[in-house]
Amino acid sequence: MHLQTERFSDEVTDLIKTVYKDQIHSNLYKVDGVTMPEYYETFVDTVENFQVRDDDVWVCSFPKTGTTWTQEMVWCIANDLDYERGKVPLTNRFPFFDSSAHFNFSEILKADPGIQIPREMADSFKYTADSPSPRFIKTHLPFNLLPRQLRTREKEPKIIYVVRNAKDACISYYHFFRSLQDPRATFEDWCNLFLQDAVMYGPFWKHVLGYWEKRIEDNVLFLKYEDMKQDLPSVIKKTATFLGKNLTTDQLSSLTEHLSFESMKLNPAANNEDLVHLMKEVLQSEVEGKFMRSGEMNQWKSAMTQDMIERFDQWTRENLKGTGLSF
Ligand code: A3P
Repeated sequence: MHLQTERFSDEVTDLIKTVYKDQIHSNLYKVDGVTMPEYYETFVDTVENFQVRDDDVWVCSFPKTGTTWTQEMVWCIANDLDYERGKVPLTNRFPFFDSSAHFNFSEILKADPGIQIPREMADSFKYTADSPSPRFIKTHLPFNLLPRQLRTREKEPKIIYVVRNAKDACISYYHFFRSLQDPRATFEDWCNLFLQDAVMYGPFWKHVLGYWEKRIEDNVLFLKYEDMKQDLPSVIKKTATFLGKNLTTDQLSSLTEHLSFESMKLNPAANNEDLVHLMKEVLQSEVEGKFMRSGEMNQWKSAMTQDMIERFDQWTRENLKGTGLSF
């Protein structure tokens, strides 16, 4: 399949290279309007022709918007709060479909055969394809890059999208990449890249709106990180109804506790420490940083300058005008 590709300007490309130091992430381009590593080209056909199943459950999101939180919630509800089976790492129970597009694992292994790469990452597409039903699948791909059977509704699995306000997503994404990539770039540089849609999986608003437009379909549920923070039990109930499950009052309160930031941070099966450890090993980063970092709303109030806040707000207003979506 051929998708239209486009390069960034020299200026943006230089900035990208100060943020991402590894070969794959520093070679970003736009494929069908989406910022992806050039290495993604290798997987375009695999993704397009991926065999979707009607009983899959897909959690889709822009990075750092509450994906892991939503995955754990969805998995627990769909599996009748089986906390025992939930001790298996989330990356294994709920594979990250497109993770193979982030690293050329065969090259990494050639350079350092000692690195332990779990199967679900080494070939995430095959691992997902081979998983027994019902499959739980995470992806950061925007709607226009999803497998054909999802886009055309030839298959109608449940799709749950989670979004977070752009400023907090940008801050969270920065800290995540800082810990992995040890960039020479400043936070301001990162914000500039974010606003120019030049961070991986951008443009942010195109990503969000691609799924927002689908929220009216019966198989799509659209959630907000901020609603989860403000009233998690309500979001759990809404998600349970969407998944065809009924939770008792006791189950609702135990799941609310299980999904609290404090519990998830301490839960080795859901705090993504293993994933971060592997990525740091691959990227040879020694910068401190936790995946479960702050878990707060409105971090932008103290993290961004007034000028940056205004730029983000203006950009948000322009993109959301007439869409009915607001934050
Ligand atoms: P911060 O970096 O702002 O702390 P994703 O899973 O999409 O990568 O998102 C990661 C963000 O979700 C991180 O945000 C992380 O702390 C936050 N998060 C994960 N679990 C959470 C929870 N149980 N409650 C609140 N925030 C959570």
